[in-house]
Amino acid sequence: MPDKSIESVLQETRIFNPPSAKDVGGPNWLIASLDQYKKMYKESIDHPESFWANIANDFHWFKKWDTVLEWNAPDAKWFSGGTTNVCYNCVDRQVDSGHGNDPAIIWEGEPVSDTGTPTDQRTLTYKDLQTEVSKLANVLKSKGITKGDIVTIYMGMVPELAIAMLACARIGAPHSVIFGGFSAQAIADRVSDAKSKIILTCDGSWRRGKIVPLKKNVDDAIKTMANDSPVEHVLCLGRCHNDISWGKLDCCWKEETEKASADCPCEELESEDMLFLLYTSGSTGKPKGIVHTTAGYMIFTATTAKYTFNLVPHDQGGNQTFWCTADCGWITGHSYIVYGLLPNRVPTLMYEGGPDHPTPARFWQIVDRHKVTQFYTAPTAIRAFMKWGDQHPESADLSSLQVLGTVGEPINPEAWMWYRNKIGRGVCPIVDTYWQTETGGHIITPLPGATPTKPGSCTLPMFGIDAAVCDEAGNVAKENVGGLMTIRKPWPAMLRGVYGDRQRFINTYWSTVSKDGQPYYAAGDNTRRDELGNFWIMGRTDDVINVSGHRLGTMEVESALVSHESVVEAAVVGMPHEIKGTGVAAFITPAPGFEASDELKQALRAHVAKEIGAIAKPDLIRFTGALPKTRSGKIMRRLLRSIAAGDTNITQDMSTLEDLSVVAKLSEKDER
Ligand code: WTA
Repeated sequence: MPDKSIESVLQETRIFNPPSAKDVGGPNWLIASLDQYKKMYKESIDHPESFWANIANDFHWFKKWDTVLEWNAPDAKWFSGGTTNVCYNCVDRQVDSGHGNDPAIIWEGEPVSDTGTPTDQRTLTYKDLQTEVSKLANVLKSKGITKGDIVTIYMGMVPELAIAMLACARIGAPHSVIFGGFSAQAIADRVSDAKSKIILTCDGSWRRGKIVPLKKNVDDAIKTMANDSPVEHVLCLGRCHNDISWGKLDCCWKEETEKASADCPCEELESEDMLFLLYTSGSTGKPKGIVHTTAGYMIFTATTAKYTFNLVPHDQGGNQTFWCTADCGWITGHSYIVYGLLPNRVPTLMYEGGPDHPTPARFWQIVDRHKVTQFYTAPTAIRAFMKWGDQHPESADLSSLQVLGTVGEPINPEAWMWYRNKIGRGVCPIVDTYWQTETGGHIITPLPGATPTKPGSCTLPMFGIDAAVCDEAGNVAKENVGGLMTIRKPWPAMLRGVYGDRQRFINTYWSTVSKDGQPYYAAGDNTRRDELGNFWIMGRTDDVINVSGHRLGTMEVESALVSHESVVEAAVVGMPHEIKGTGVAAFITPAPGFEASDELKQALRAHVAKEIGAIAKPDLIRFTGALPKTRSGKIMRRLLRSIAAGDTNITQDMSTLEDLSVVAKLSEKDER
């Protein structure tokens, strides 16, 4: 959330004009002025069908579409009647047009030698990718996977993770990638919901010198599901060579792919065939599977990647290497490591490990080693870098950088300025990209050669995005007045549904804002626009918190806590956190016979990690005899947020509070 210190207010009024392409040492800007952006934006809103059809013409189609858009709110169909394949457009097309030997994926593993040099590095060309993807696709087929079967992928950041995604896309089997930091229980929930017959995993994954036991987590998830498990096969890649158990469902990635044929034609898919499912937190305890489909997602992610980061292929004078530090387990990795990058023919860098292993200079060494030109990360990482000290970025040559991106949460102006000055040499434009799992790609973002930027603002809408600040009746808010982030027209990469739950799709996104009977997309964020039309994101409207740029439902954490024998009732809220942006605060009523203690806090933190994953561990746990509730029995979360933020002077209206003594107790320094 943009903070309100005097300094930040001053910075808010500070405008940074886009630099010239020469100043950052890059190729010409694709969109080189604000006027050019405005003209294209207007065209995309006034004539979306011809705008997107022109772009779609640059992709490979087996059969051209009949209709660009069919819109029957909230259901959109883009490019109906057309058939295409995302994997073909990412990989085969580059091979067929004579670029087979160009680098497609540049990978650096985490381990380093005694002298600090990475020991595991690989570059895969488009031809290599085509071979490996085809082999794996044939393995999937040999396991009985056909079009429409959902494949779960739970792997570390190795090239085979991208290969797995592309192999699924090649045969029309939607993937569901689960972040490697999630626990066995989280895997079980997602695999059961998707009814996956197969899980692709690794023995382990490197993270800060330690091995994350991925295969063991998969084994535990399958055990948890017991007789209800839909899983028939687990294909396991050897990465860390840690001890794993081997059961009758298991098969070996290396053995199977070695004997598979490298010939696997791309399946001809309908534009609206499902490309993937990605689970994300909402305001209930159960994560929802966001559905994305083929053509619209492909075209929108490739187009947004191109313009937001000014991607120019090597043979057109680009000489670029793009690095997004996200994990493929999140939408950012799907869209801006894999699907948005490969069609643009700019190499995408994948890094396996932690940002501070073996040194806090690791990221900058990677930028230097691979001459990274576009760098894309989260504000939480930037805040950690600031804390670790300027000597680390100063120890590396960062002069290759052209564009710097951020994503996942609002960036505080201090972090924005540091990023620009210490990483971007005071010249690289910062693209603060606002978007969501549901939007598929960037919806509000500066374009590096066109948009004047202000620290903390994600600025202006992407092409085709009819974004507005609205009230529930669809009226547009006045300048600098807060309201709901709303999108009034369909766009190609919009979510097509919540897997298996039509009602939740409608309730969550299409029931909050409407005008003249027409529902609008409500993103679930509060926002405002300033006098220049720039958007400022002001936080979520629901019970979702943004911890280190990762979405977490407070109800999910509450359900995890109450599943522990020591907890009668739990309320979870966000609290300000120096590095994470938002931390997790849990207020807990212990069960009879359980004493509030540090040991119990530790046990509860470990329990949450087991139920969800380490990212959900509470930063603060407070025990209390009772939670503050309204007379109708609702937990007063606003009040708990103030208490968690350390607000000693609570002035919120407490007239509806059931028992005032509860607040008095909770506000005491330590309630144990
Ligand atoms: C938040 C991540 C402010 C927002 C791509 C959104 C942001 C949620 C920004 C989506 C940004 C993302 N500025 N807030 N630049 N980017 N958010 O689905 O609350 O993991 O609704 O997608 O993150 O998170 P998700």
